[in-house]
Amino acid sequence: MLSSLSGVRCVFLVLLFICLSGGVVAFLPASVLPTRESSFPSRLHAENKHNGDNKPGSNGLNTLFSPPSMTNPFEALGKQLTFFFEKLTGGTDTNSAMASRALPPPPPSVRRTGGPVSVVFGATGRAGREIVQALLREGHDVVAAVRNESKLNEVFGASALSGATPASPGHGLLDYISGIDVTNAATLSSGKVPAVLKEACHVVVALGPVGGVQPGGGFGFFPGLTSEDVDFKGVTKVIDAVVDAKGVVKEGAGEGGKKKAAGEVEERKRTLFRFETPEDVAKWQRLDDVIMGGQSSSSLELDREKGYATYTGSLVVEGGGFCGTRASGGDASVDLSGFDGVTLRVRGDGHRYKLNLKTTETLASENVYQAAFDTLPLQDVGEGAGGWQTITIPFHRFYPVVRNRVDYKAAPLQPSSQAAVSLGLVYSRFEFNRQANPYYDPGAFSLSLEEIALYRSRRPSLVLVSSAGAERNAKVETEEDRKTEIPIVMLNPGGILNWKYRAETYLRASPLPYTILRPCGLVPEKAFGDEPSTGKLQAGQGDTITGRLTRQDLGLAVAAALASPYSAGKTMEIRRDEAADANAMTGVGRRPRTTAVTALELFQPLVADKDRAVSGTSGLLPFPEAVDPPQEVSPERAKEILNDPRVKAQQDRDRALVESGALQKGQGGGGRYVGVCAVRICRGSVPDGASARVHVQNSVIYSNNALSFNEPKTKSLPDIPLCFGRKKVMPSKCSLCPF
Ligand SMILES: NC(=O)c1ccc[n+]([C@@H]2O[C@H](COP(=O)([O-])OP(=O)(O)OC[C@H]3O[C@@H](n4cnc5c(N)ncnc54)[C@H](OP(=O)(O)O)[C@@H]3O)[C@@H](O)[C@H]2O)c1
Repeated sequence: MLSSLSGVRCVFLVLLFICLSGGVVAFLPASVLPTRESSFPSRLHAENKHNGDNKPGSNGLNTLFSPPSMTNPFEALGKQLTFFFEKLTGGTDTNSAMASRALPPPPPSVRRTGGPVSVVFGATGRAGREIVQALLREGHDVVAAVRNESKLNEVFGASALSGATPASPGHGLLDYISGIDVTNAATLSSGKVPAVLKEACHVVVALGPVGGVQPGGGFGFFPGLTSEDVDFKGVTKVIDAVVDAKGVVKEGAGEGGKKKAAGEVEERKRTLFRFETPEDVAKWQRLDDVIMGGQSSSSLELDREKGYATYTGSLVVEGGGFCGTRASGGDASVDLSGFDGVTLRVRGDGHRYKLNLKTTETLASENVYQAAFDTLPLQDVGEGAGGWQTITIPFHRFYPVVRNRVDYKAAPLQPSSQAAVSLGLVYSRFEFNRQANPYYDPGAFSLSLEEIALYRSRRPSLVLVSSAGAERNAKVETEEDRKTEIPIVMLNPGGILNWKYRAETYLRASPLPYTILRPCGLVPEKAFGDEPSTGKLQAGQGDTITGRLTRQDLGLAVAAALASPYSAGKTMEIRRDEAADANAMTGVGRRPRTTAVTALELFQPLVADKDRAVSGTSGLLPFPEAVDPPQEVSPERAKEILNDPRVKAQQDRDRALVESGALQKGQGGGGRYVGVCAVRICRGSVPDGASARVHVQNSVIYSNNALSFNEPKTKSLPDIPLCFGRKKVMPSKCSLCPF
């Protein structure tokens, strides 16, 4: 009995470690379950067959354990994990998860620069603090929603919290609301929280369960702060609070009614031109190829009764081959900042047209910004109501051109700094750079126009940090299937993947524009050593990738997601660009490190969640249903899984980080590191005492083999030559080496 208890304790430690460390997280995930208090997705409750049975402790997650017995086979592992646990959780928040140290509270105030206001839940967490910093750098005024002020002071410093001016020009200001316990809905609906949530443009949720040394000794998630409590129930309460604060209204009746959020989450449109009156049409002047000796002709004809105009004419290829019409001044002189592109309401004829945009930037030159758009063939869609299309052209699809040729040296269209001064429509035999327009015919053409406007798409109003593996886990149907999965899905400690997935499902069903970011393994920057990674991020969908990224990377991705209309309504896994890492491994193509995240590259190619179910179009299967966590794995099975070479490699790496002193105890992945030498075992399995070729890489120690860096530091490894930079040294000669 005793030994089985100890086994259980050890398993818990193992699972907790895996769950919390930035290590095994290469396949790390998390999850979620339904809550009775949750207001809107009642259907989620129906999906969860056993939710009524999910009382704290029923899944064993929040059970308190004492230290393992010395005779237990997991003893060494247990000690080791205790150490990791302390390191990764801060370790000192022992007896009470909510213990608050008596530091003077930062001065209360409302600090705003006028930038977007973003509330961050979990701001004092290891990922949360990087997200806060990234948002501040991007000019967001950040409100940290935290449990207690003392940790806030520790993490950000009283000066950052009391700062009345931004750290540097363009930076946002940091404000906070404290006393927030997401497991207690009352703390989300009282005080100034509703007002702050209403004011906020964006909300970021980077929460995670809390564990530590239990009052009776041993380790575990604190009761009430398990994955179920925080990752699922807490997150759904935050979603509910945001929905309430924003006054989200449900339009239309019944389940199928469309939901819409009020306020700043609305899409925006600014009409530039209508085509309803003679005055509207008179703004447009003809600009055909006759100016170059051609014979094409065109005109804009108003159909007053129907309330639109038709741009029609005849394209004569000989001598020119284009027709155009241009309107300037009046409503066209508008600030483009705050918009994403141009939208047109048109009825075409199957031809490709182009839209010209002259801005303040191109005023003094011959340049215009030009984008092509395709219209549907009339015969395909028919007359009547059919045939009308809404074309949206994002600004990045406008190219700077001089008389049809792309000017590669010209500045791209920057909506933030440019105003539109004129707009033009062109129908030409030429595409860009005198390539043939693939959709033109000589002769008659017809393009009816109702409206031309600037548009702004929805940004996500809530970004949820979930975890890679959450969807993967939800697809596992049988325990046999689970055995073939990646280790974290096999272990699924505390059902964390299920709880996180349930929160995701809840958010996807909510009326909020959202983005769900599922980081792969979160590791310290040092874990990349001096690998010349580009620092670029890659996104995947369908939960098939594994990999690593830093919490700083995650911060950048969150900031990029909040700024981009292409992230809204999408769920994605993210990791560091592996091609860059692969290059680094082989020494090919050393590229400069950069932390740039290109929102366009990252988000634009991704499929919107709502389109995943449309078979055959996205290449992605529909989302699996959320299910309850499976049975906890037995100690024996956990041991087997932890012997998986992938887990061992990762554990060795993380263990080495701590053993080497590279990672400061208690600081976790987001903490500071002491600089010591780092070792990378290049390949193969190296038994103790054998020779191996290793490379020093900054202050991180990696190990992909059987070498145990967990042994006391006096362990002798005399046969291992170290490469320190380019110079080979023996461990004993390396003053920085811990061995
Ligand atoms: N480690 C990985 O490799 C990995 C990989 C993928 C995904 N993830 C996920 O990424 C997320 C963030 O990770 P992390 O390393 O930043 O976790 P973390 O350091 O443990 O941070 C968790 C945050 O949640 C807060 N929190 C917990 N319970 C709360 C409550 N009841 N009310 C209010 N706040 C509460 C904590 O507050 P305090 O600061 O006051 O403690 C802390 O700020 C987690 O969900 C994790 O599962 C991690």
